Amino acid sequence: MKKYEIGLFGLSVMGQNLALNIARNHSIAVYNRTTSKTENFINNKVDNQEIKAAYELEDFVSSLEKPRKVMLMIQAGKPVDLVIDGLLPYLEKDDIIIDGGNSHFEDTNRRLNNLKEKGIRYLGVGISGGEYGALHGPSIMPGGNENAYAEVSDIMEDAAAKTEKGACVSYLGPQSAGHYVKMVHNGIEYGIMEVLAEIYDYLRKVLQLKPAEMGDIFAEWNQDFESYLVEITAKIMKKDDPKTGRKLIDLILDKAKHKGTGKWSVQNALDLGTAIPTINAGVNARLMSAIKEERVENSAQLKNSNQAVVDKKEMLPLLKSALYFSSVIAYAEGFKLLKTASEEYDYNLNYREIARIWEDGCIIRSGILEPIQEAFSENMDLNTLIIAQQFRTQLNAAAEEITDLITTAAQSGVPLTAVHAALDYFNSLKSEELPANLIQAQRDFFGAHTYQRRDDEGTFHTEWE
Ligand code: 6PG
Repeated sequence: MKKYEIGLFGLSVMGQNLALNIARNHSIAVYNRTTSKTENFINNKVDNQEIKAAYELEDFVSSLEKPRKVMLMIQAGKPVDLVIDGLLPYLEKDDIIIDGGNSHFEDTNRRLNNLKEKGIRYLGVGISGGEYGALHGPSIMPGGNENAYAEVSDIMEDAAAKTEKGACVSYLGPQSAGHYVKMVHNGIEYGIMEVLAEIYDYLRKVLQLKPAEMGDIFAEWNQDFESYLVEITAKIMKKDDPKTGRKLIDLILDKAKHKGTGKWSVQNALDLGTAIPTINAGVNARLMSAIKEERVENSAQLKNSNQAVVDKKEMLPLLKSALYFSSVIAYAEGFKLLKTASEEYDYNLNYREIARIWEDGCIIRSGILEPIQEAFSENMDLNTLIIAQQFRTQLNAAAEEITDLITTAAQSGVPLTAVHAALDYFNSLKSEELPANLIQAQRDFFGAHTYQRRDDEGTFHTEWE
């Protein structure tokens, strides 16, 4: 019986597309719990590629070369545990399970360590690029058992997006390193998406522009940014609704959903004591958007009476600066979180390599990743991207321009939460002096929590009254 190089479990659209992608270079067997999905895939999506459809779990596993490589493309959370439990009776020592979903990194640590006791090797692999990326080449972020990765690296490299620097995949580190990096990728994604949403809000509410004009503006800016998220924003602005003939963006309800990765980035950043305010603003903005009914009620009573008078020609360059500035800060926050996590969890991350594999295939691919790689090539221990010579002058200049933008937005009652958060992150991180001396005094005043002095060693308490 023919044996296949890899098995893919889970034929959602992502799973189907990844299977088709892998099948271009490797033999693959697929399995899905609902049989009709597998039949549908084989009959309607597969042309000439040799993809084996398995309809029984046992047949699926036994059709694989040993050590077996089983890739899970299923919903994160409990389903992953259930599927692993279902597979275990058919697996043998040294077989490899690869979780290609957006699993929480702590779940990945737990699964990896439990399976290690059973002799099964585990890889937690972040995959970015959506449905298109899965089919044509995603960015792949593997972590976990290193010798297991060596046995699947050719499959991953063939499937990944390619730049002139190589395939957008690299072994990132032990344990949950891959899923952690993917989580932070998504955190940055939330931050940049929100910055774009805020700039769109300013364009429509303060500058009173129509979507098609905004589409032109985003497309023009993107000649400099080369950012996937800016590119799709430009395209979204141009899209007509076939039902009404109006612009579709105007018909989409302003309630954003989320599946958790942005929230996890913020939760873990707080656990590790690292501030990521721009990313946090992205998460918070989705929460604020979700309470639409309440916002509608409030707006009836709290009408904004002001409208800033601004000149479109003057404001457009400032908005472009805000997009550049806030995007760089979102990456800077993400990389700082990665650095903190790498030290805390012994991931031993290579930041230049992470920026390299994000250069194509993934959702946050953009021109900014090139100078980020340069910055880490010059100094792998860089504490923050804001002081890298590739960014510091531009950030300083942009920070001044953004101030005007924020003022006119506030006058018009338009929240620029993420842009503001990025500016304050930058201003805090470059402040020699912050007012935390007052916080310490207050803590000591009401709770005798003590403080340190600038002019003496040790801890001190004062009877304040
Ligand atoms: C990617 C995306 C992908 C997914 C997000 C969406 O990198 O390809 O990030 O993983 O689209 O999970 O997340 P939300 O539903 O939380 O916006």
